[in-house]
Amino acid sequence: MPEPLPPSPPPTSSRGRYERFVAEQRGSPIAKPASREARDWTDDPADKHRRKPQRPVRALIAAGAKHLRGHWGKIAFALATLTVGTLVSLVIPLSTKFVFDYVILDTPGPSGLPEWLGLPRDRSSLLWLVGAAMVALAVVQALVQLTGRYQMTRLDKLVSSGMRRKVFAHLAQLPLHRVQAIKVGGVASILREDAGQLGEMLFSVIYNPWRAAITFAGGLTAMALIDWRLLVGGLMLGPVIWLTHRTWINRIRPVFKAARKTRASTDSHAAEVFGGIRVVRAFDRRRSETRRFTVGNDLMHRQEILAWWWSRIIDFGWAVFIPFASAAVLVYGGHRVMRGDLTIGDLAAFSTYLLMLLGPLEVLVSSASGLQNALAGFDRCLDILEEPTEQATLAAAGSTRETVARGAVAFEHVDFRYPGHERDVLADITFAAEPGQMIALVGASGSGKTTLCNLVARFYQPTRGRVLIDGRDAASLDLDAFRRGLGIVEQDVFLFDGTVAENIGFGRRGATLAQIRAAAEAANAAEFIDQLEHGYQTIIGERGVRLSGGQKQRLAIARALLADPAILILDEATSNLDSASEVLIQRSLATLMRGRTSFVIAHRLSTIRHADRILVLDRGRIVESGTHDELVRTGGKYFEMLQVQLHQVGDYAGRDGNAAPAGQPAPR
Ligand SMILES: Nc1ncnc2c1ncn2[C@@H]1O[C@H](COP(=O)(O)OP(=O)(O)OP(=O)(O)O)[C@@H](O)[C@H]1O
Ligand SMILES: [Mg+2]
Repeated sequence: MPEPLPPSPPPTSSRGRYERFVAEQRGSPIAKPASREARDWTDDPADKHRRKPQRPVRALIAAGAKHLRGHWGKIAFALATLTVGTLVSLVIPLSTKFVFDYVILDTPGPSGLPEWLGLPRDRSSLLWLVGAAMVALAVVQALVQLTGRYQMTRLDKLVSSGMRRKVFAHLAQLPLHRVQAIKVGGVASILREDAGQLGEMLFSVIYNPWRAAITFAGGLTAMALIDWRLLVGGLMLGPVIWLTHRTWINRIRPVFKAARKTRASTDSHAAEVFGGIRVVRAFDRRRSETRRFTVGNDLMHRQEILAWWWSRIIDFGWAVFIPFASAAVLVYGGHRVMRGDLTIGDLAAFSTYLLMLLGPLEVLVSSASGLQNALAGFDRCLDILEEPTEQATLAAAGSTRETVARGAVAFEHVDFRYPGHERDVLADITFAAEPGQMIALVGASGSGKTTLCNLVARFYQPTRGRVLIDGRDAASLDLDAFRRGLGIVEQDVFLFDGTVAENIGFGRRGATLAQIRAAAEAANAAEFIDQLEHGYQTIIGERGVRLSGGQKQRLAIARALLADPAILILDEATSNLDSASEVLIQRSLATLMRGRTSFVIAHRLSTIRHADRILVLDRGRIVESGTHDELVRTGGKYFEMLQVQLHQVGDYAGRDGNAAPAGQPAPR
């Protein structure tokens, strides 16, 4: 069972953690966090070399482009409308020049207008005409740009939800220990916060830069036509901007990424606390958990503020630079006007163009911090998508997609340790289960029974040795196909928030209500389900909170039976039932196990007496193996366990004569 509430170490203050973070940032932009609290899925204990250096922007953008396949038509349309809209808006400053030079002043005045334009010579009519033209152009420009922007926003949502789907599907295929490392809350955080960032990138990588480029090209051309000397002065500032930008960009993304990481771990902590809210309440840990949450939250805020500062430094630079540039144009241009080299209309248009150019440039620069944030989120998604899936971690190529036909299971010298752990949990396990046999696993708590079943279910792969299914190496079988032939009732029953029928029906795609009912009957669950308020349509709450432990177990059994599996795993499947129900279920289970290979774990030894083979585990090794009678005759560990249990039972209800083996003293 996953620990519902991790022991809270005295949390260091968020300031302490933040200072350590800043120090790590200085040392290396991706230094490994040392603390348990700051740990998240990027730290894989099983693979210490997994963390790669930060991806370069170019690689991220190339990867993003791959995810845009099939959408380029829409993007081209959006960019085309943007181009038209921007070019139209570039015409507008010309009206300033027109009004100054041809209408208000006599440089050259209305008489300077060429004849073929057919414009009126009256100044007032000209003014009205220019005004009307400006409004018309602005409306056209706004409409055209709106169409393009709508396309782009729709695409943003489309791409983001596509990415979410991909990340979700991939997460669902990761090896179990990786999913456990990412944790429930972390998954939610990645899906909600990070996976949506690809859409953001559409704006910060394609849309905004394109707009800046068009405005720039158009504006520069217009300015060059007005006065090329002014233009050269302006262009000299370009490299300065570019250089400051580069140094800054490389610093800001690790900060954004770190803030996202802190958020994921804070989110997963919150999810965990509310998942285990009963324990939190029962042990009165509300305050300490709130404090732990606050510390994580504070750290995130401090990191976000650090990122904010980096963004503002650039903003500040612009806030100073724009007035400086405008002043320079005014002083220099003003002198040229006074000398008569330039008309007032020229100067006014030039200043307007300058502001027009600086505008998108500023947007570009400030959206660069947004871009870094988006890249950080996308980077995290790529990290996830690059992780090998459960199937991909299997070495053998050429997986066969056949389902389990007979259900023969054999272990050959299997050793196993959990990924990232030092200690072998199973050692040298060898046994063979013929199709249809019932194998019972007994042993002390922690001896490795559940782990052995995990290997049968192929939730994990052996560290050494082989597992054979129907005589073939399990590693060569397709996981999905294999699991279709598997039914499992776990020690820690998990149910979904949904109706009873949905939960049982989870065992088989497209199961009918009649089949669900039959499975419930077999699991001795039909009776209590019928007594529920809405029968099979009763909502059972998150993880089945509205059911008793025994009821949950019976639903889980029904779910496993509905799957009609060739291999059935029952891990303490009846441990929460009273004796009467257990006897009933045992009877139906006995019928149902016929023809299926079943692995049954039970602490109550009476339930596994009829097993074809009993494997006694002790600290990860099989110490005894045989039928009940054989093991009793040997008088070893199993017999000892049996005696202890019979003792307990005997104290209340007399003795079980069957258990007394020939030649052994009757247990008392
Ligand atoms: N996910 C895991 N990661 C690391 N170690 C684990 C994990 N699950 C179990 N273990 C360790 O493996 C050992 C065997 O655990 P397992 O769950 O197989 O015991 P068990 O025989 O089923 O016990 P019980 O009867 O209490 O259910 C234990 O020492 C446990 O600490
Ligand atoms: Mg167990």
